[in-house]
Amino acid sequence: MVCEISIQLDRTPLDVAKYPVGIDSQVQVLKRILNLQSKDKVLMVGLWGKGGVGKTTLAKAIFNVVFREFQGSSFLERVRENSNDLVRLQEKLLSEVLLGEKLAIYNVAGGSRLIQDRLCNKKVLIILDDVDNMRQLDALARCCEWFGKGSRIIFTTRNSYLLTSHDVDWNHMYEVKALENGEALELFRKHAFQGNKKIEISSNLVDRVVHYAKGLPLALEVLGSSLYKRGEKEWKSMLQKLADSPCKYINDVLKVSFDGLEDGEKEIFLDIACFFKGQSTKHITKVLEKCGFAGVIIGVKSLIEHSLISEEEGTLQMHDLIQLMGMNIVKEECPNNPGKRSRLWLWDDFLHILSGNAVRLVNV
Ligand SMILES: Nc1ncnc2c1ncn2[C@@H]1O[C@H](COP(=O)(O)OP(=O)(O)O)[C@@H](O)[C@H]1O
Ligand SMILES: [Mg+2]
Repeated sequence: MVCEISIQLDRTPLDVAKYPVGIDSQVQVLKRILNLQSKDKVLMVGLWGKGGVGKTTLAKAIFNVVFREFQGSSFLERVRENSNDLVRLQEKLLSEVLLGEKLAIYNVAGGSRLIQDRLCNKKVLIILDDVDNMRQLDALARCCEWFGKGSRIIFTTRNSYLLTSHDVDWNHMYEVKALENGEALELFRKHAFQGNKKIEISSNLVDRVVHYAKGLPLALEVLGSSLYKRGEKEWKSMLQKLADSPCKYINDVLKVSFDGLEDGEKEIFLDIACFFKGQSTKHITKVLEKCGFAGVIIGVKSLIEHSLISEEEGTLQMHDLIQLMGMNIVKEECPNNPGKRSRLWLWDDFLHILSGNAVRLVNV
């Protein structure tokens, strides 16, 4: 008992955002939806909205505010990206809720049974971040009966239909919306100026750049960071690039920030996007240095300053929309022929090229 309490107190809150804006008011709304006073019910709650709008951030914020009210908690990040190994996700969930206890799971069905067996009498908080298909929900949190009285299960997703299909009540669903003008400007300014009062940029220029981010925190953060410490000349050049790009999709906006990187940084960024996302910083640095890149450590630091990657628990992470932007850049080098691109990361592309070579060899 004493041991359990001390581990509970030890559990550290999650890192929410570098410059949180407008989160407290959303947390209050969510707390009302979670209705923690109702101690007998088990509730499933869904946060939904576009990519980059702030679902994961808000989920982390609410986790930090309420996790101490539960006997056990787990925040499972990036479920979609890791869903090729649902057993590992099940193990992670159980180990977090059961305070480090390691249980061997041999298959998804067994994992589901174990979650149900071990958690049906525990009041738990579970957050499944970025789910995109029913298999994940079925494996990790199929129904309220799996969890003890008073438990709360929160999903984040881009697809509200998934929530209704999983019987999440419409009044337990919360749409995370793009930031309003004032908050968007505040978030952008925090990244672009970071308290630096020396550089004066006309508010007209600032407003025009902010306009392109359409209130999306991810875009505000990336555009703002790439203008940090830049003078008016660079701001105008960025605006020109934004005006020239189609800017129909967030991808176009993010790419403008990539275009502003130094050549070496671009290469490091593309390698991380295509091959190394999620791996340890040490390992990535070592491999890139072995590949002959100069200044890898400074390059990685610069990418972090540009908010294109982040360092989390010794690993390099990247928002999936930023990763997609990077992969698209490589695909666009030669859309129809993977063999002529600078990087290959899909097994199918690899096979395509190998089989092409085989045919050529036969012809020879
Ligand atoms: N309210 C906010 N205040 C400050 N930064 C935010 C806010 N919402 C999101 N961000 C930042 O925007 C980026 C994208 O947010 P994220 O929560 O990952 O989006 P989603 O999960 O909806 O794709 C993150 O880097 C995050 O730090
Ligand atoms: Mg997310």
